[in-house]
Amino acid sequence: MKIGIDAGGTLIKVAYTNGDLPEFIKFPISRLQYVASWISEFSNAKICITGGKAALLKTYMNQKAVDIVEFEATSSGVSYLLARNDIPVKAFILTNVGTGTSIHYINKGEHQRVGGTGVGGGTIMGLSKLLTGITDYETIVTTASKGARDRIDLKVSHIYEGSEPPIPGDLTASNFGNIAILASEGQLTKEELLASVVGLVGETVATVSVLAAGQSGLTSIVFVGSSFIGNDLLKEVVQRYTVLRGALPMFIENGEYSGAIGCLLYLG
Ligand SMILES: Nc1ncnc2c1ncn2[C@@H]1O[C@H](COP(=O)(O)OP(=O)(O)OP(=O)(O)O)[C@@H](O)[C@H]1O
Ligand SMILES: [Mg+2]
Repeated sequence: MKIGIDAGGTLIKVAYTNGDLPEFIKFPISRLQYVASWISEFSNAKICITGGKAALLKTYMNQKAVDIVEFEATSSGVSYLLARNDIPVKAFILTNVGTGTSIHYINKGEHQRVGGTGVGGGTIMGLSKLLTGITDYETIVTTASKGARDRIDLKVSHIYEGSEPPIPGDLTASNFGNIAILASEGQLTKEELLASVVGLVGETVATVSVLAAGQSGLTSIVFVGSSFIGNDLLKEVVQRYTVLRGALPMFIENGEYSGAIGCLLYLG
């Protein structure tokens, strides 16, 4: 048995295998101790760990484990998933939307961290809690998917009312910028608020990624991270913004397990 673990700020992602294809499982970070005892059942397993909580997880474990650098694990896992899905791209920007967002340049195995933003999945969780009191991820995502953003976000076309804007009118001029201006007609709903939170995060992540791609002379951007799990709205926002800015967005199945897969591959 081989076990690859990516213990991040929010979720612990595990990829494990007995020789065939990897299987995947994830746990909330609050279950770190439980994960250590779950792994201890596989007494002869080879284990590799990555992620910000790798060292903490190891303190709960009584088995040996190697740890590897998170970015190396993620990029190797992404290359594996791209190959497995017959996606032939070799040079691309890799954007990992985890608790926070990190952005990497990858070219035929060579890789470099090019930046990131603190706006990420954790921002969705935090702002959602502040604005609506909802803390459950799935509830946030399903509620957001039913909301419209028109009363909250200010579009370019709102500002250029009645005249032709110099950039597409459908672009967001100011996320949440309409609230201060809007003559409030009734309370904003949870659906509207959460849709706008997802919009803010998606547009920020896409914009920063597109700029990184432009700087590196690349057009393909691969988006991974658990923030996309069951979150079609976030995918749509990122997709639309990335395309609008002339780049090519890609989402890969099981992309959130890239780091865990990279660990598994490291074990040989
Ligand atoms: N079941 C879930 N519970 C909580 N958050 C979830 C869940 N499923 C998806 N998410 C989303 O995924 C985000 C975490 O993504 P991911 O697991 O990639 O980050 P991480 O690896 O834990 O963090 P980082 O890499 O920044 O240390 C959360 O902030 C949230 O938006
Ligand atoms: Mg992570």
